[in-house]
Amino acid sequence: MTENKNILEMKDIVKTFPGVKALKGVDLNIGYGEIHAVMGENGAGKSTLMKCLIGIHPQTSGQIYFEGKLIENYNTAEALKIGISMIHQELNPVEFRSIAENIWLGREPKTKLGLVDHKKMYEMTKEVLKKIDLNEDPKKLMVDLTVAKMQMIEIAKAISYNAKLIIMDEPTSALTNKEIKQLFSIMRKLKEEGKSIIYISHKLDEIFEISDKVSVYRDGKYIGTEDTDKMDTAKLIKMMVGRDIDEMFPKVECPIGDIKLEVSKLSDRSHFKNVSFNVRKGEILGVAGLVGAGRTEVIETLFGLRTRMSGQVKIDGKEVMINSPQDAKVNKIALLTEDRRLNGIFPMLTVFQNAFMANIDKYVKKSKLFDHKKATEDVNKFVDIIKIKTPNIYQKIENLSGGNQQKVLVARWLMTEPEILILDEPTRGIDVGAKAEIHRLISTLAGQGKSIIMISSELPEIMGMSDRIMVMHEGKVTGIIDNHKDLTQEELMLYATGQATSLPNN
Ligand SMILES: Nc1ncnc2c1ncn2[C@@H]1O[C@H](COP(=O)(O)OP(=O)(O)OP(=O)(O)O)[C@@H](O)[C@H]1O
Ligand SMILES: [Mg+2]
Repeated sequence: MTENKNILEMKDIVKTFPGVKALKGVDLNIGYGEIHAVMGENGAGKSTLMKCLIGIHPQTSGQIYFEGKLIENYNTAEALKIGISMIHQELNPVEFRSIAENIWLGREPKTKLGLVDHKKMYEMTKEVLKKIDLNEDPKKLMVDLTVAKMQMIEIAKAISYNAKLIIMDEPTSALTNKEIKQLFSIMRKLKEEGKSIIYISHKLDEIFEISDKVSVYRDGKYIGTEDTDKMDTAKLIKMMVGRDIDEMFPKVECPIGDIKLEVSKLSDRSHFKNVSFNVRKGEILGVAGLVGAGRTEVIETLFGLRTRMSGQVKIDGKEVMINSPQDAKVNKIALLTEDRRLNGIFPMLTVFQNAFMANIDKYVKKSKLFDHKKATEDVNKFVDIIKIKTPNIYQKIENLSGGNQQKVLVARWLMTEPEILILDEPTRGIDVGAKAEIHRLISTLAGQGKSIIMISSELPEIMGMSDRIMVMHEGKVTGIIDNHKDLTQEELMLYATGQATSLPNN
């Protein structure tokens, strides 16, 4: 038994998977009414520790005390019953069921006859949605929601259990700023009610804003716990990566060449209109804007994933027709999509297969044999460069930590050796150390004369890496700004919110 000021005490937790010791004897203590951040690099063991706690996979050894009582041999249903619920990093909605059915799955209210009481279920759903300020029809199907909304439903579901301790594993990775604010106000409300929250995120500003305490893990080991207000960015980073990172955006200045890609008056049916811009060789064009500004739609159209209504695209001065991703590839354009969980990863395949997949032709020799050796070398090279944490490249990708899965996709597109590389939120969910590595790689590619278009919702990333910044608002380009001037985040936001424009209105 332990003192009762803590709702949760995890002691000396060890978790091994075949070939991997994910947790090497770690602690975590959470107080009542506390928002406690859990931090660490990709693969540090954060999600694994949470999965032990919620009963998804029991720890190999170590003890867990909840409200002073030792809890053991339990599953997720039992964890929920005693008051622990979790919002998972990987969304797993039942897509063709309604919001209500997703929230109450397996615990639907029943009529006297034992049938699902739909009317009651819809009412209950409305009530939970109200708690998180979400105005959606409970009957709406999950597949009709944006990823951000799906994540909000996941949050509603976790709250609906009335848990005493809620685990949030990167809940904001797909949320807009407005929704993040909403989530934070819900979290503060829960805290006032005396509930405890474990909060996992790679966004340091969020940690400083919302958490009371921070516990840090590295490589399956417990590093320490501090009050957040006694912590600063440098100290936190040092605890996470074990060294100082002095350069967050290692942008190397390089000569900028001729215009490589020129887009004129591109429009689609409804998301954006008359979008014109160009990218030069060796240039990084940042694309800023609020979620919903049409940035993703523009580049997906450019890549042939969506139908264009009008407009012209030129590469090296010649008009090209890109009507499919295959056309894009022929023109040496690569795209790292934003929604990697749903569009990019093949969970049952290995790291190796996921990495070379966009690139098969490159490894098929004249004899039509697959050049396994060369492919292996290349994949291993990228695993090293961007520090993908995996026991070997033949591990199934679904066994990697969330951030490391994303790194594999980054590697996939870098391996295609494109001339025009389009990156949509390239470092979302990726830890600070690896972020700097990916930035370094992007910068190197620009140095080799490649043209890069990078969409990012993180202004420091956009401002730290781009040569020029294109800003979009509601489907229109409001500015294309030379980043070498003294631009402030505030000015950029004026363009992003449509309050400023440096271009004639088209
Ligand atoms: N089911 C599994 N089988 C084998 N190895 C696993 C499994 N789940 C996790 N691991 C390994 O355990 C280690 C810790 O992974 P975990 O998902 O806990 O990291 P994380 O801290 O949550 O990282 P991220 O920030 O990327 O989400 C990783 O090396 C991962 O590959
Ligand atoms: Mg994780």
